[in-house]
Amino acid sequence: MNDPLLDAALGARQHAFAPYSKFQVGAAIEDSSGHIHTGCNVENATYGLTVCAERVAVFKAISEGVRQFRRVAVAADTDVLTPPCGACRQILWEFCGDVEIVLVNPRGKIETYQMRDLFPKPFDASYL
Ligand code: THU
Repeated sequence: MNDPLLDAALGARQHAFAPYSKFQVGAAIEDSSGHIHTGCNVENATYGLTVCAERVAVFKAISEGVRQFRRVAVAADTDVLTPPCGACRQILWEFCGDVEIVLVNPRGKIETYQMRDLFPKPFDASYL
């Protein structure tokens, strides 16, 4: 794919635990030292306890002490590329801020967005 971040998101998608929706998602986040942290969606029989790929990737990185991020990639097998859900946008804003979000599918279609465009007028720590 010519970009390790996109390859990582597509690779993480293969680990998705999505027996209920069958909708497999992978995410990859590049930190400020260039390391890549991955996640996949992890579903649950209760449905409501499902965690999206993006949040798994963010929480894995945060739990390892990483705090600065540069870019996020999200991979799903849709022709209209899959964007992060609302809950993930809130979490991505909190930890990654106005980073580049790259959407990709297994056929190599790519779109790039800025987080501020996907998540205008965010609630964040500046209000507290
Ligand atoms: N999902 C993600 O992991 N990330 C997204 O950006 C959209 C949705 C997951 C949650 C659930 O396991 C499945 O996709 C269907 O909603």
